[in-house]
Formats: sequence, structure tokens, C-alpha cells
Amino acid sequence: MVDTTIGRLALPDGRLSVPGGLPDPLVCADGSVVTSAEEWYARRRPELLELFASQMFGRTPDTAIAVHREVLSEEPAALDGRATRVEVRLSFGPASDGPGMTLLIHLPNEPAGDRAPTFLGLNFRGNQAAEFGDPTEPDVLRQRWPLERMIERGYAVATAWYEDLDPDVDDFSNGVHPLFYTDGQTRPGPDEWGAIGAWAWGLSRALDHLQEDSRVDPERVIAVGHSRLGKTAMWAAAQDERFAMAVSNNSGCGGVALSRRRHGETVDAITRRFPHWFCPNFSAYADREETLAFDQHQLVALIAPRPFYIASAQDDDWADPYGEFLGGRYASPVYELLGVEGLAATELPPVSEPVLSRIGYHIRPGGHAMTAYDWERFADAADRHLRRSR
Ligand code: GCU
Repeated sequence: MVDTTIGRLALPDGRLSVPGGLPDPLVCADGSVVTSAEEWYARRRPELLELFASQMFGRTPDTAIAVHREVLSEEPAALDGRATRVEVRLSFGPASDGPGMTLLIHLPNEPAGDRAPTFLGLNFRGNQAAEFGDPTEPDVLRQRWPLERMIERGYAVATAWYEDLDPDVDDFSNGVHPLFYTDGQTRPGPDEWGAIGAWAWGLSRALDHLQEDSRVDPERVIAVGHSRLGKTAMWAAAQDERFAMAVSNNSGCGGVALSRRRHGETVDAITRRFPHWFCPNFSAYADREETLAFDQHQLVALIAPRPFYIASAQDDDWADPYGEFLGGRYASPVYELLGVEGLAATELPPVSEPVLSRIGYHIRPGGHAMTAYDWERFADAADRHLRRSR
């Protein structure tokens, strides 16, 4: 079905199947059309941010909070001398042993004195697993991040365990949420941040730290994440414009996949199983996706004009690869308005044929995972779009 409600956005191949069409990223709530970058930044961008905050992820508190920083270790000759390995504990709130995150950072030693572009992402199984693999996995290397390769390609890599920030259960008595409660409060209110909001906030606190490390290029920090942590990377980059680029790996529903397609995981499914990821308001859209004033292409639009890379996997139907592609595709008008290219494909690219436009996309064979292949493509996209002029 061709999307007739917003013909401007319809794909030439007519493959879009979105009941009721999609909300146009360049049309404001009052119906006025955004025609300049100034209007985008002054009116529409804040309006969309407010919608995602109040209706989906919950508002991130803007209260300043004390951050206690401690360097736990520093090893200048890690990875056979090619990297410097640093562990830093950031603790939040008045107590120095308050909730926090332990950042594991690998910085390339060559070229000496250079400030490295840096991938920053949360991990699922702890820093140890990101570094060495997880011994409880049948395939030990499964959760391991390709640190040597990224260092070889000139990137620093920083990661922290997501459960440090919020333990990913529907219980808000732990993690960072209680630091922001008013007296007597025990869980977030209807439009207050859920777990994804807290994880995204943690990415911004990690970025605060990285921007002060003279070995990191403060203007080339890339938010990266897989699955629920891909949703997190997107929300972090949407809110925090200091992120130079973002990467969504199999982020699916609540990430880059269009909710209105209702393919694979739906708003109903995700808010039943993982209500704590979002603000309570979001569950009102279960089975009523057409009443959402936004869709996920507009989350990508909030990252514009910064490079954004989408990785899908062929067997990951739950994350709706085609919906992920469209999420990128339909953000393109905003990129174009801001003077850069969007996603340069009008049809789903063939498997293993990455498109490296400013919104990039690939679909690879296999299932739900962030693989070595995916990482190489993230670095390809970053090489192309964040290369510094020397
Ligand atoms: C579940 C969930 C997805 C999520 C994924 C993950 O499959 O339904 O929305 O992306 O977990 O985080 O691995």
C-alpha cells in the first residue's frame, strides 16, 4: 500500500504498509509545515522531543547531581601494547558509594597524542564479558566486543554495564531513579523516565567524563547499542546533541522500527513484557498505535543532521528489519532540510550490501546479535562521516 496521507514521504516502490500513514516529521502539531532549519530547531525539534519524553521514554530529570569520579586502574600496555586500558567509577549523588557506573575504556596508543574518536555503549553482561567473553555462554565469545579490531581501526571503545544504572526489572527502588524522587515517591510518575531513560542518562554522564579525557576526541563520540541498548543509544543521542553519531543495532520496537507497522514486536507486546522501559503513559498506545502523535522515524529525525547507522539482521523478524529500514528512510526529509543526505536507498538493500549514506543501513544474514561484521560497518560509517580534516 502506498502511503497516501503523506505522499511526499511515500516510497517509489509502494511497499510501505502503515495503516493510516505516518506522522510527518516536518509538520507541526498545529498543522504548519516546517520549511527551514531555523523552524526545525526552534519549533518542531522541541515539540518532538517533548512528545517522546512525555508519551514514551519519560522525562529525564534535569536536576544537577553530584558525580564522584575515581580512576580504579590504568594499564598503558593493554592488548599487546596497542591500547591503554582504563577503569573509572562514576558514582552519583551525595554519597561516594552511591549508585553509579564503572566505565571500561580502551584507547588506541597510536598515533601517540591523537584524540581518538570513541564508541560508547552499554553492555548486557558486565564489562568483564564485553572484554573477555562470558564463560556462562555456550559460545564464550558471544558477548565479547571486538576491542582489538576497533583499536586497530583507530577507535577508542568505552562501555559500562547497563544494570549498574538500572537493574532492568519493574522495580524502581534501585539504580539511579531514587536519587531524583521527591519525598515519599517510590516510582516514576506517568510522564517520568523509565529504565531506557535512566540508561540513556548514564550514557550522557559517561560522555561528560569522556569529554574531559584528553585522549578522547570530544567531538567524535558515537553512541552505540544493541537491542534494548540500541533503543537507549537512540534516545541518548536524540536528547544529547553532544553525541556526534549514533548506531542502532537490531533496536526494533521502541527503537528504529516503525510502531505503526505492528510487525514482530508491537507496542502491546513490549509494554506488557517490559513496562518499566518506558513511562507509564506509553502503554495507552497498545493496540492504538495510530493514535501516537509520532513514530520512530521521528526519533531518528531528532538525531539529524548527525550520522546515524542502522543494522538489521535477516532472521530477527521480532525487530522488524523492514520497519527498521523505513524508520531511517522516513527521517530523510529532515536530514535533507538540514542540508545533508538522508538514507540513500528507496528499497530495502540486499543482504550484506551496506548503504553508507549519512543515515546508513545494512541487513546481514543471521539473528539477533551485535556481531564483528556489524562493528566493522559501524567503523566504516564513522570513518566516512566523522573523518577529521587535518
Ligand atoms: C526482547 C524485547 C526487545 C529487545 C530485546 C533485547 O526481545 O522484546 O524489544 O530489543 O529483548 O534487548 O535483547
